[in-house]
Amino acid sequence: MHIDIELTDADLRQSLRADARAGLTAPAKWLPPKWFYDKYGSELFERITELPEYYPTRAERAALTAHASDIAGITGARTLIELGSGSSEKTRLLLDALRRHGSLDRFVPLDVAEAALRDAAAAIERDYPGLPVHAIVGDFTRHLDRIPAGPDRLVAFLGGTIGNLVPSERAVFLATLRRVLGPGNWLLLGTDLVKDRGTLVAAYDDSQGVTAEFNRNVLHVLNRQLGADFDPAAFDHVAHWDTDQEWIEMRLRARHDMRVQVADLDLTVPFTAGEELRTEVSAKFHRSGVAAELAAAGFELAHWWTDPADRFAVSLSRSR
Ligand code: SAH
Ligand code: AVI
Repeated sequence: MHIDIELTDADLRQSLRADARAGLTAPAKWLPPKWFYDKYGSELFERITELPEYYPTRAERAALTAHASDIAGITGARTLIELGSGSSEKTRLLLDALRRHGSLDRFVPLDVAEAALRDAAAAIERDYPGLPVHAIVGDFTRHLDRIPAGPDRLVAFLGGTIGNLVPSERAVFLATLRRVLGPGNWLLLGTDLVKDRGTLVAAYDDSQGVTAEFNRNVLHVLNRQLGADFDPAAFDHVAHWDTDQEWIEMRLRARHDMRVQVADLDLTVPFTAGEELRTEVSAKFHRSGVAAELAAAGFELAHWWTDPADRFAVSLSRSR
């Protein structure tokens, strides 16, 4: 396997330090969601995808199963690039269809989580003999310029991960991707759709508590990487549906007053009882909003496919 490391352990630590200092000293405390995904966090995410309440993975898989052949026929992609690839499980539907179509030359998964990426890339190499796999350990908000050049590229950004960016971040992300791709290449984007509050909140606050453990895992990451002394059990998991922003916010709510030391930052972080730390937004979309964000970045929405229950959309767009 060919693997490019755009993010060394030292780079990762450096950006975690910067994010933790900015987020934990802000008046409304926050952390970016990419720090959930150490080895254990990636495993927890895979468990989330199998929970009865967490419909997005199953719904996206249904849409991809129904339309993978269309995607292969329309794009004729030679290079499949996947951003935030994780386990690349659903991506196998695309790899299968592109192979059947006869166009696929290589697969390029990119993820910030090196352990999950290595496992996934090795499994794809094993199961797709002869397919060159070029994995990139990188951050899709920083390293899009490292994806390989060439014609007939299809970028897959699945799972609804684009919703983990706030609107201004999404605009920069999409515009950067459009610049890197040039005209005439393809973007396959997975977006979760706005639906009733009960379904959404249950998906982010499951009865087995796996999502709560995933949420608290970011505190274990800070403890290990930055010498912090968070007591994860002293924080309640909160999943809040914000009807104005149309996003789920995951938060960690302090159960009592406390002072957390972050040794590597030489920082004391006070929490009052009930104070919340925002750990993730997960935006939900309407077709019109997705089309408008794509158009503003220079992509033209060509196809919009949903699962039979219209819970999740997979859209195919072309860079203009
Ligand atoms: N695409 C998979 C995994 C989704 S989980 C699916 O649909 O099931 C989100 C993935 O994005 C994780 O593997 C995580 O490590 C990765 N990720 C999150 N933020 C990232 C960033 N800024 N850059 C690169 N990868 C990121
Ligand atoms: C990766 N991402 C799209 C997931 C989501 O649904 O926003 C992460 C997640 N957070 C809680 N559960 C799953």
